[in-house]
This record gives sequence, structure tokens and C-alpha cells, in this order.
Amino acid sequence: MSETALRPHRTIRVELGDRSYPVHIGAGVRNLLPEIVAGSGAKRVVVVSARPRESVPETGVETLFLTARDGEQDKTLSTVEDMCRRFADFHLTRSDLVVSCGGGTTTDSVGFAAALFHRGVAVVHLPTSLLAQVDASVGGKTAVNLPQGKNLVGAYWQPKAVLCDTDFLQTLPREEWTNGFGEIARCHFIGAGDLRGLPLHEQIGASVARKASIVMADERDTGLRHLLNYGHTLGHALERATDFAMRHGEGVAVGTVFAGRLAAALGRIDEARSAEHLEVVAHYGLPTALPAGPTPAELVALMRLDKKATDGLSFVLDSARGPELVHAVPERVVLEVLEAMPRRL
Ligand code: GLY
Repeated sequence: MSETALRPHRTIRVELGDRSYPVHIGAGVRNLLPEIVAGSGAKRVVVVSARPRESVPETGVETLFLTARDGEQDKTLSTVEDMCRRFADFHLTRSDLVVSCGGGTTTDSVGFAAALFHRGVAVVHLPTSLLAQVDASVGGKTAVNLPQGKNLVGAYWQPKAVLCDTDFLQTLPREEWTNGFGEIARCHFIGAGDLRGLPLHEQIGASVARKASIVMADERDTGLRHLLNYGHTLGHALERATDFAMRHGEGVAVGTVFAGRLAAALGRIDEARSAEHLEVVAHYGLPTALPAGPTPAELVALMRLDKKATDGLSFVLDSARGPELVHAVPERVVLEVLEAMPRRL
């Protein structure tokens, strides 16, 4: 192990029986990769990376390096087919290993290729964006998009390990910070505690620890895992209504403020708790107002398409008992709360 790998870091275990794995968080943790490869017994590794080759440490075994591109445009079945063909040409076997390195779109599509190839080959994620470190790379959801919608084809495929190297974040563009902080802000309302003012690696650690505990209780998203979608119902609608000009983290941020207002309008929480939603989101420098453009009626129409909306409009909403998935929220109340939201001009 290199000296860098010995720097102190935090390890969180996602305990899922024979699918358990560690998430290592800290500066330089990517240097744990050769040790993980050696421990896996893999004789060959394919690294699929949206970062330059030198971003990924040597694996210690015969390695094929494939270049990927972060972004929704490449999160397709044809990208997955290309990857699988390259795996096959390299004679990757079921006992070998795939490594993904990049943002959440890369860990999603490489994870999906690993889930499919030989009906499942081990994968290690090296997430390089804040969003991927606090959410996308942990929990085993993998997917690609169809023209009809995002993440429509996917599989649950837990990684062998996740290496959240905070050194990757040093060069992150501004909009990528917004994306990640949107997810960290919503953690405040799903049981992670108040993370404001903590050093970044502790905010990442607490967000991952909360996600791990939720995934351990509901790996297949049949109940508790819905909590991770706090603020997401409106968030996804805002992304779609703005043709994705509004980034995911911005949508979740505004969606979190809205979730606080809606919970108060339904008498689930008091005004002070609703105001806390605004304070927390604003603390992280995130938007708190609706963008100019989409009308409340348009947003409601988009929210009806949400995958949680099996019985009318559904939201994850706060209460004295904590957050819960609430079905059949009256459309009239949703429209009133949207009408009353501040708007960016
Ligand atoms: N990103 C939500 C989940 O993993 O369930």
C-alpha cells in the first residue's frame, strides 16, 4: 500500500450479507485500489474512466483502460453494449473486476455493464463528483436512460468497494458543487443530523452513513429507501420543466424548501420547522425559489409522472415522527403552495 493510502480516512460498511462492502472516504483513498484488486483474486481489470489515466492508480494486474464521458448523453444501452464488447475482447471473466472512475452518470452506466456482463462481474467505484460520492455510487442502483426517460433500464448491483477520494473534488466546477450540496442539504431532513459547518469529508461521511443505513434496511426500494427522494418530486419536475437547465442539485434544493412548506400547509410540521428547510438550503448556497417559467399547473402535471405517484400526488414529507412517504396529497394544496413560493425573475 502506498504512503498516501495510509492517511487517516473513514470507512463505512454497507452490510448486506454476502453483498456487503466498504465505502472509504478521505484524501488519497483511491490508493487502496491495488489492495482491493489483490484481495479480490482478479487476474484482469477493466478501468472505465471519465478522468485521465493517471487519476486511477495501477491495479497490479493486467489492465485495460477505457475512456468514458460523464453526462446523461452517454448513459445509454449502446454505451453499455460497447463496454461489454470491449470486456469480451479483453477476455474478462466472472472472477475479474471492473473499475469505474467518474461522476454519477459514469458509475451508473459502468455499474450496469458490470451487472450484465457474464450475468455479473465485480465492480469498484471511484466516484469523482460530490453527487456521486454522497449518493450515486453507494447503494447498488445502476441504470441507463432511454429517449422516453431517465434511468428506465437498470439493475441492483452492489459494488465490491467504493473509494470516495476527496482529492478528486479539488477541481470540481461550481455547478457540480451545487449538485452535491443539494443532496447533502436534504440529508438534514432524513435523519443525518445538522451537517452545517462540518468539514467536507465529515459531511460526505455523514451523508454516506445515512444512505448506508437506509439501503441496509431497504435495499430494493420498497419502503424506507423512498426517504432518499426527499425534495426530489418537485426537483425532478423542475429539471424536466427547464429542459435540464436547472441541475439536479438545484431542483432538489428548491424541492426541499417546497417539501417544508407543503408539510406545514398539511399541518404535519409547524412554521418554524418549515422555515428550517429554507435556512438549511440557503446555508449551502443553493437556490430556494422557483425558476421563472413553469407554471404551478405544469409542475403538477410533471409531478404526476413521478414513479412514487402510484396513488395521486406523492411526496416524502416531514412530520413529528420524522419523514414519511405520503400518497394522495390533495392537488389543490400542492397548487396553493406552489403559487405562494417565491420566484426568481
Ligand atoms: N439515489 C436514490 C437511491 O439510491 O435510492
